[in-house]
Amino acid sequence: MLPLALPDFPWNALAPAKERAASHPEGICDLSVGTPVDPTPDFIREALCQASDAPAYPQVIGTEEVREAILEWGRRRGMVDVGLAGVIPTIGSKEAVAWIPLMLGVRPGDTVLVPEVAYPTYDIAARLAGAQPIPVDLRRPESWPDAQLVYVNTPGNPDGSVLTVPQLRAIREWARARGALVISDECYAALGWEGKAVEEVPSLLDVRVCDSDPSGLIVLYSLSKQSNLAGYRAALAYGDPALIAQIVEVRKHAGLMVPTPVQHAMSLALVDESHVAQQKERYRKRRERLIAAIETAGLRNDKNSIAGLYLWVSHPSIVDSWKLVDLFARLGILVAPGDFYGEAAKGHVRVALTASDERIEAAAKRIETAGPFFG
Ligand SMILES: Cc1ncc(COP(=O)(O)O)c(C=O)c1O
Repeated sequence: MLPLALPDFPWNALAPAKERAASHPEGICDLSVGTPVDPTPDFIREALCQASDAPAYPQVIGTEEVREAILEWGRRRGMVDVGLAGVIPTIGSKEAVAWIPLMLGVRPGDTVLVPEVAYPTYDIAARLAGAQPIPVDLRRPESWPDAQLVYVNTPGNPDGSVLTVPQLRAIREWARARGALVISDECYAALGWEGKAVEEVPSLLDVRVCDSDPSGLIVLYSLSKQSNLAGYRAALAYGDPALIAQIVEVRKHAGLMVPTPVQHAMSLALVDESHVAQQKERYRKRRERLIAAIETAGLRNDKNSIAGLYLWVSHPSIVDSWKLVDLFARLGILVAPGDFYGEAAKGHVRVALTASDERIEAAAKRIETAGPFFG
């Protein structure tokens, strides 16, 4: 029996569509998950090897090298300087997302607000702390119930939407007025498709949002997507030093430490912008190719889907995500139904850009050949 009334793992429900897609004579194009497929850059792999003599336990707070690198990354992103005490490496960002409410003292009877169209782990995080998750529209804080903690996700997974500086300020002000904490998951921040780098995807800790005061605020970021490092489990938390200190205490007791070689690899990856730009260009081409193909079939990528690793696709006359999943599966293409991301996400499918150029081209050609409504 699952503890804490955790829901069934939703991906099991996709097995029949996967089987159908896999039976395509030219093979499956799996665009259902956001797992990177391009190689880890050589200089990062070399850094991992160089630091492989690691007999001692790593420290939870991270090496000074990695914390300096995190601060430099934050400076480039226009974030308030939180000092070395305001940053730690985490073992990928999913564990940080999942356990942060518990680590920050959220308890049974408390309320955690989660985006209404969202990555499922925010809901799980609330449940792991025994709290109640409540889905909300991140653009309308005036409509929210009281809560102890709010999850923000910008750029959003699955919908690719980005919160502006005024929208983030409104969230911060709402939270301040109530003493609530805000955790902003920004793991797709490097993948904005419109405008210029810093302006296109502002951070919750952007000085224009937080007025240089990080109290009550934490940003989570991951190197999984920007650096093809998902297998390393390399991510970070950045924010209010008082909250980070509390998290560090719990992590010490629980033994949640990032391996020393991974910390060194992260340090080099965080200060190098060129490999991130290169990877982004790969995704840009895949995105443009897929958008062109789905539009020929009468489908559309949501107008607010302007960042991140996914297209957020719908058709004006189809309200059932599973119907869309089935139409794609008949072409040998596996996509994820909106239903996995909340009640408000139904009617869409999420199409990941994380497949090889060859698989993206195969998928695009199949869609174009099948034509409107996929024939
Ligand atoms: C919104 C969001 N947050 C967090 C994660 C976790 O990433 P990781 O644990 O690889 O850092 C993902 C992974 O897909 C994600 O989509």
